[in-house]
Amino acid sequence: MNMVRTIKGTHDILPAQSGDWQDLETQIHKTANLHGYDEIRTPIIENAALFNRGVGEETDIVSKEMYSWIDKDKSTISLRPELTAPVARAYVQHNLGGQSLLQRLYYIGPSFRRERPQKGRQRQFHQFGVEAIGSDNPEQDAEVISIGWSILNSFGINELELNISSIGSENCRTNYRQELINYLKPFIPQLSEVSQHRLKHNPLRILDTKNKDEIKIIESAPKIENFYTKEDETYFLTVQQYLNDLEIPYKINPLLVRGLDYYTQTTFEISSKKIGAQDALLGGGRYDGLIKSLGGKDVPAVGFAAGMERILIAADDRKRTDKHLPCIYIVCTDLSALGPMQQIAKNLRDLGIKIILETLRRSMKAQMREANKRKANYAIIVGEKEAINETVQLKNLNEGTQDTINQSELVSYFRSLTF
Ligand code: HAM
Repeated sequence: MNMVRTIKGTHDILPAQSGDWQDLETQIHKTANLHGYDEIRTPIIENAALFNRGVGEETDIVSKEMYSWIDKDKSTISLRPELTAPVARAYVQHNLGGQSLLQRLYYIGPSFRRERPQKGRQRQFHQFGVEAIGSDNPEQDAEVISIGWSILNSFGINELELNISSIGSENCRTNYRQELINYLKPFIPQLSEVSQHRLKHNPLRILDTKNKDEIKIIESAPKIENFYTKEDETYFLTVQQYLNDLEIPYKINPLLVRGLDYYTQTTFEISSKKIGAQDALLGGGRYDGLIKSLGGKDVPAVGFAAGMERILIAADDRKRTDKHLPCIYIVCTDLSALGPMQQIAKNLRDLGIKIILETLRRSMKAQMREANKRKANYAIIVGEKEAINETVQLKNLNEGTQDTINQSELVSYFRSLTF
């Protein structure tokens, strides 16, 4: 029969890799908690309207890449392509703003985008992110950026590059958008079909073009910083000042355009030379209008999300955490002793020791080989003689020494032992 395989762009995380995932998750929980952020978990499926409204109908993410279907009750449901809109929905739905003026939230979980799969680009990928909802001050932007920077650093990724920009306030963007359209109009015949479409619906995205001819055209285009209001300018300069205080190096990149519609003011991305500047490890920004557009109050917010697969690619030469719990392998070749040994295994696990109990009923030799393969520190060996005498042979696998010990004394023996 034909084998059923994973769907294109999705991957199994196998035991050989899951230790790295656990390390990364531990680092995320630790750093987020150290900054006073609490975890939030939202469903993987949401009403499509959330992303149409939240992320923007004209974005690639929603218009081309979102997995959506009409459910049996005729509602349109989507697999989440990102978590900012779901977190904002949860914030409004559960009136989290009523509980605290500032909600500092973080999340870890899968997202789905129907992109062309390649290294570091999947159709199911995992994001972690933080969203600080409630503060409209630049120190909040700097805090959020520093959490992302610190997680990537503590995970051993260097050669990081932080690019920041400001797309200004609504007013600034409206004026700039018009100027950009005026500038680009004479070049319409030279623009790609995609850019021609963007010129109508989201002209700022053209700044992000990878097309060489278009990059030339963009070089002389009007610059957004010339359209900042006094407040926009002061805000952006203050974010930079706090980044200086935090000793986080950054590059101002006015061509940094994020692919989601909800941004205002500060935007940023962090990339690593290891996976190429085109593919950001992390991206985010301020999104002061989102909560209101989802039916909430006018509450400002800023956050980021990072791609966990990309982080693991960039960190592949990282020193792995030695996850080696103290381990005992119970080699039992006498069936009558299996019951008592299961009881002992339970009591030893309660001491925090990893216990592996043979369930394949293999020969003594095969079980000992397995104990070594699993890098056990001790083997507790029970054959016919030990079963009758209610003893075990306790073999220290690191030192090669062996003693006879009563079964009833095993737990107190290991309680007094430090591995
Ligand atoms: P985003 O830039 O669309 O932003 O995605 C954030 C990160 O997710 C990217 O930098 C990348 O590392 C990873 N990523 C995106 N698509 C893929 C993919 N197909 N395969 C692998 N990794 C991918 C957001 O999602 C916003 N919600 C970020 C945000 C939070 N803004 C404010 N708060």
